[in-house]
Amino acid sequence: MRHHGGMIMGLPTGVAQEFYGRLAAVWGDRGPVLDIGSGSGVVAAELHRHGVPVVQLDPVDNRGDAAGKIPYLHADGCALPFRRGSCAGVHLARVLAHVPDWRRATAEAVRVLAPGGAIAVDLGDRPRSGPHAALTGDLVRLAAELGLRESQPPGDPLHDRAVDGRMGELGCGDPELIETGATVEVSLRETADGLVRSRYRWAPGTDHGLLAKLADQLLAGLETDPDAPVPLRRSARYRVYRMLPAG
Ligand SMILES: C[S@@+](CC[C@H](N)C(=O)[O-])C[C@H]1O[C@@H](n2cnc3c(N)ncnc32)[C@H](O)[C@@H]1O
Repeated sequence: MRHHGGMIMGLPTGVAQEFYGRLAAVWGDRGPVLDIGSGSGVVAAELHRHGVPVVQLDPVDNRGDAAGKIPYLHADGCALPFRRGSCAGVHLARVLAHVPDWRRATAEAVRVLAPGGAIAVDLGDRPRSGPHAALTGDLVRLAAELGLRESQPPGDPLHDRAVDGRMGELGCGDPELIETGATVEVSLRETADGLVRSRYRWAPGTDHGLLAKLADQLLAGLETDPDAPVPLRRSARYRVYRMLPAG
């Protein structure tokens, strides 16, 4: 992935730092802010760098170097080990699609939120058109023909409006949006590699070796150079919810 100055979460570093700076300003130095489903800790590290007293929480310890010495709790987002009203904030990025019950996870987030606190939700973004999306679609189709499936979407549909509705039920107002986007240059091989290696995209037990072979076949059949940079539009969006005053 070429981009002068490096990338954070798939965005050019400068764009990402400005974006996470705007998100960090939602909480400032009030804490703790729970990063539920924190994964590698890359986003927690950005929030921490901007002065947010963040606590990582995940039932699977996938912390990478970025997670550093940021506090970490091995716990389930659907049963948070925190008292009612004890947290200044909750961060839920690309997590609700992976928990057993996303409605329960949002109820837990609201339960632990202190008065004046905020919950930031990012449902993630996938390219919908262009060569990267076409390659992704081809790989998913080819994999399905061999019985390799994507991870099950939650039975209960999960999309922006559904989350807005749920947060409204839980007493929150309409969300404030924090958004960014950038065009980056990514080769189709990099897209295929990312897809093959993704831990979350595929059903548990998926044969990633077989996926890699399918990806190689697809790349070999392309009319274009799979290693040539191809522009890709990336975007990221948080929906920030706050509790409405009671009564
Ligand atoms: C796609 S990753 C997102 C990681 C990180 N938030 C990010 O944006 O890079 C999904 C994460 O949700 C976590 N997860 C799955 N089930 C969970 C649960 N019940 N409670 C909290 N996190 C969970 C996974 O372990 C994984 O780290």
